[in-house]
Amino acid sequence: MAYFDTLDRTIKQEPVILGLETSCDETAAAVIRGRTILSDEIASSADIQAQYGGVVPEIASRMHTDAVDSVVKAAVKKAGITLGDIDAVAVTYGAGLLGALLVGLSFGKALAYALHVPLIAVNHIRGHLAAAYLVDPELRPPFVTLLASGGHTAVLYAESEQKFHVLGATLDDAAGEAFDKVARVLSLPYPGGPNVEKLAANGKNVIPMPEMLRGEHGFNFSYSGLKTFVVNYCHTKAQKGEIYSKADLACSFQCAALDVLVKKTVQAAKEKKVKTVTAGGGVAANGYLRAALQRACDAAGLRLVLPTRRCCTDNAAMIASEGLIQYRAGNFSDLSLNAKASIPLKAEL
Ligand code: KG4
Ligand code: ZN
Repeated sequence: MAYFDTLDRTIKQEPVILGLETSCDETAAAVIRGRTILSDEIASSADIQAQYGGVVPEIASRMHTDAVDSVVKAAVKKAGITLGDIDAVAVTYGAGLLGALLVGLSFGKALAYALHVPLIAVNHIRGHLAAAYLVDPELRPPFVTLLASGGHTAVLYAESEQKFHVLGATLDDAAGEAFDKVARVLSLPYPGGPNVEKLAANGKNVIPMPEMLRGEHGFNFSYSGLKTFVVNYCHTKAQKGEIYSKADLACSFQCAALDVLVKKTVQAAKEKKVKTVTAGGGVAANGYLRAALQRACDAAGLRLVLPTRRCCTDNAAMIASEGLIQYRAGNFSDLSLNAKASIPLKAEL
């Protein structure tokens, strides 16, 4: 009560925002001033999680608890500021692993309370969408965005910084999920996506893949057929004792999985008559996708604003970037803010 009601609500144009992200296995803290990144720290438990072939929620929570204080301190130090310079604390409240989220959320609340600055609740997915603002300070809606993460695959129309419309989305698995499942069947270590990309670099696109959803499905996607095809391909070859090239399979899968994203994103940009395309989410770190999207945008006369690879996978700078949008809109949270394990894509955008 006292915290929220006595906050100074003066909105600065170039505030210093501390972002905090602990939704999965990365403990991340970053500081931005306006749209400029001053620091961007990440401590990951991926090496430990790799021993289990995926993220164990309890281990993630414990690692966040151990790391969060030192990661925030490092972010503040590297930014060349003191805690007193922070104008707002932006923290991921969902979606993600509840225990993991609660570590960042509790830390963020305590920090905002102690500094007597606004606490800003950030939807992780909106953070991915806001990453593009950090590479191009001049970026302004309207534009079309390709969102491709571990849990979501969608093409969105950004009407304003605050308002997105979902033009199409996956009907089943997300693109990142498909990469992770294919990695598992190819016996590649966690995290799957980057390892499939590495293997694909040594292969050729020579194995015919099932056709992805065509035009009649608008901007929707489906990955379950592609994923099942790859799983069956591996099992059949193993049963027959036939040798096959895992690199060719990875490469052919990668092309099929990503070409459709490029095609539908550019189609959406043309249909919405926008001049700019952006992308976000872990899969947007994929080199093949980045190059293909750049080529397609160039050919269509579209400007592509692509966050750095580091800014596509989970990080706190993107959370601070979305925090800046909410800060400028005066959307502050009080200390009763709770974590949410899932937030439907359409509910908040
Ligand atoms: O956005 P993100 O870091 O976390 C979520 O919010 O889900 O995305 C993680 C997903 C994982 O499925 C991971 O395998 C995939 O992004 N990913 C990649 C690459 N890097 C991460 N997929 C393909 N190629 C990559 N280089
Ligand atoms: Zn993410």
